[in-house]
Amino acid sequence: MSSPVVTTPPDESVAAAAARMHELSVGSVVVVDGARPVGILTERDIVRLAAAGPSSAGLKVAELMTADPDVVAPDLSVQEAFATLAERGYRHIPVVDGDDLVGIVSMRDLMRVAQIQPVVHPGQIEAPPGLEGVIVAETKVGDVRGLEGFYHYREYSAVELADKRSLEDIWFLLFEGHLPSLAESHAFAREVRGLRGVPDAVRGLLPSIAASGGPLMDQLRSAVSLIGHSQGFRPWLDIKPDELRANALQVCASVPTLIMALHRLAQGLEPVDPDPELGYGENYLWMLTGEIPDADKARAVEQYQILTIDHGFNASTFTARVITSTGADLAGAVTGGIAALSGPLHGGAPSRALDLLDAIGRPENARPYLVDAVTHGGKIMGFGHRVYKTTDPRSEFLRGVAERIQAEKVAFATEVERTVVDVLAELKPGRNLYANVEFYAGVVMEDVGLPSDLFSPTFASSRVIGWCANILEQAADNRIIRPSARYVGPPPPQPVPAAPEG
Ligand SMILES: CC(C)(COP(=O)(O)OP(=O)(O)OC[C@H]1O[C@@H](n2cnc3c(N)ncnc32)[C@H](O)[C@@H]1OP(=O)(O)O)[C@@H](O)C(=O)NCCC(=O)NCCS
Repeated sequence: MSSPVVTTPPDESVAAAAARMHELSVGSVVVVDGARPVGILTERDIVRLAAAGPSSAGLKVAELMTADPDVVAPDLSVQEAFATLAERGYRHIPVVDGDDLVGIVSMRDLMRVAQIQPVVHPGQIEAPPGLEGVIVAETKVGDVRGLEGFYHYREYSAVELADKRSLEDIWFLLFEGHLPSLAESHAFAREVRGLRGVPDAVRGLLPSIAASGGPLMDQLRSAVSLIGHSQGFRPWLDIKPDELRANALQVCASVPTLIMALHRLAQGLEPVDPDPELGYGENYLWMLTGEIPDADKARAVEQYQILTIDHGFNASTFTARVITSTGADLAGAVTGGIAALSGPLHGGAPSRALDLLDAIGRPENARPYLVDAVTHGGKIMGFGHRVYKTTDPRSEFLRGVAERIQAEKVAFATEVERTVVDVLAELKPGRNLYANVEFYAGVVMEDVGLPSDLFSPTFASSRVIGWCANILEQAADNRIIRPSARYVGPPPPQPVPAAPEG
């Protein structure tokens, strides 16, 4: 603030007050009765008076001032002062301690300190690291209740859906908002099974993508990008909702086919065409081997895929929604989702969880191995979760699936799980770390015959449905997602040095 303040008594003439403001280069004078501010006269008032013509000459300050002005306390922060001026449209505001005028804050003062104090816009809030707990959208797709160990798709428990319904029925639920009737179920299955093939333009390019090597998740995102490009997907802002839905169905239906084709090509094998007569999980394993799979194993993989369709505002879903919020095409949003999912902290963990079991090898090695890993700052893959602070329901369900199909590693994995929970409770007390979806995912997938390079892609094969449900929802009620960051570098503006010569 500026202090001392230029003041004037109420009975002074406006002309005298204006002359003093000019002489002292200030934009306002505070009108005082003793030390108590009773009004404020600003340059703006004087300009208004001049515009009214010469008849107003000789007017007293009391007749022109804004009486009983808003005041602020001396302990107001610069950010709050800025916000007060911006909110109320003032350029000056007197600072009062008790009844006494002690200074004045002007926009000019604040601009001087703006170099070191960033402006906080009204309504600006600071989010915690990782956006933990921050609600950034409304959704009807589903949610996760971390403290209760429960998650749901629309209004149904996801675990119960995995127990009772087919993946295609749940896909319908997420896209249409309700579970299908028998007729709707058949019609939808026919529709999406007819879209499983990969368009010829992309099919011809798959051998070169596979030959480029690298993780299958990376290859998959290139292939999905090509689907959008070759099929002429356009920014959703330029198309009708029906066309966006058709884009979504096509991408969701072709992702499993792309995964298996790329996997087989990398093994030097010809891709196996999808079979529209087969259910979702059956067709998935069929495209892996070219043989009709065991029904229990097909159901096991389909249940894993159901469990991973959606899971609140996880990193990849958020990514897909951010990309969608710009009006971009659907394949672009899915490609971003795949990239986010590929990270080891998100969908890249199941093969690492299985590697952990292999590294431990025997039950008696578990404790020393885990204690050593955690005390050296290591993360135990397949444990911990941002939202679940109790057992992850997906992990419990998958343990049951693994037991049902008598997966080779399930007994050992169960023993290791108990030890990991104990070790983490001892070494990371209060963090509430339990097995997450990834821990038994590897055990189940390995048992149904999926090699580890297919673990993360299999997660993506069904999560794409969740992304697309979110993309459709975002497009139906969109506002661009554009948050802010707090700048913590050297204070700007620094003088820009001339370009070095020579
Ligand atoms: C899932 C995950 C990324 C959540 O991350 P987050 O919410 O940011 O939690 P943090 O990483 O801040 O973890 C909080 C604390 O628990 C510890 N912790 C979390 N997960 C842990 C794990 N798997 N092993 C050992 N310690 C773990 C962290 O070291 C941290 O300890 P600190 O307080 O001493 O720093 C994290 O638990 C993790 O990396 N897990 C392993 C990878 C995995 O399984 N991913 C699949 C997720 S479905």
